[in-house]
Amino acid sequence: MNIFLQSSVWSPFLPPQNATEAAAVDNLYGFIFWLSVVLFLLVVGPMFYFVFKYRVRAGETAKPTPRITHHLGLELTWSVIPSILCLVIAVWGFWDFMNLGNAPADAEEIYVTGAQWVWNFEHKDGTKEINELHVPEGKTFKLILTSQDVIHSFFIPDFRVKHDLPPGRYTSIWFTPNGVGNHQVFCTEYCGDSHSQMLATVKVMTRKDYDEWNRVGTPLGPDETPEKRGEKLYREKSCITCHSIDGIRMTGPSFKGIFGTPQPLTDGSSAIADENYIRESILNPQAKIVATFTPVMPPFQGMLKDNDITCLIAYIKSLK
Ligand code: CUA
Repeated sequence: MNIFLQSSVWSPFLPPQNATEAAAVDNLYGFIFWLSVVLFLLVVGPMFYFVFKYRVRAGETAKPTPRITHHLGLELTWSVIPSILCLVIAVWGFWDFMNLGNAPADAEEIYVTGAQWVWNFEHKDGTKEINELHVPEGKTFKLILTSQDVIHSFFIPDFRVKHDLPPGRYTSIWFTPNGVGNHQVFCTEYCGDSHSQMLATVKVMTRKDYDEWNRVGTPLGPDETPEKRGEKLYREKSCITCHSIDGIRMTGPSFKGIFGTPQPLTDGSSAIADENYIRESILNPQAKIVATFTPVMPPFQGMLKDNDITCLIAYIKSLK
């Protein structure tokens, strides 16, 4: 993440443009930036020149300034030209503002929910993500934002989009990502203790990689084993809140030593806890309920990809 060092001559100090719409923001920014530089030089340059030219020299005493009332031409010039420039900026800004607030009709919707202190994403097909958003390049997305608790603000500097998320109502942003890679998301509204850690990553992928990810999930990293990934998911996906790994009975059965053993079910039958049983129990937990437990687990259909489920099974297998 190297966000404030990139620059172009026209719009310096800005992060790279990684959404098609970013150029609109940068063009207006560049115009205001360079206009300010020119006006600064026009005002401050002559000021220093006059300070030098009309300074009191050694041996002189300061003379009173002659009384000058006004100069109509000069006054009109410095009123009319800046007024026109301000109007240009206002109209230009309003145009972009309206455009950035109205997503194209064919944009694909993604729901974003901010909560202290996590970003939840839900794709159209039901895929859910936490603090990570995978999108293919070149496709337009509309993010519909809301908050579960306090006001957060969703900001992707590389895409030049930012919007507040007030609880109890929906706001939206839209973009067409065009830079394959990772893009930082910040929360930019102070929302409590861990506000500064309320971060997420937009992962822009090629269409091919995205389709692959959407089918099987993120491939294992170089130092990652299925068991390690499984353990991470066990925590991240909150399995840990109901299933112990040390045999202690919680809301759901403990994972310790269950793999390959028969599980007594509420209907009096039993099932061996093999790969298919675990997969089914994750995706559709109501299918088989272990005797003496209540059917309270939510289905994880759409929240886990095939890779994730395989890793969770590997982790459960490893809990002897
Ligand atoms: Cu959420 Cu700051």
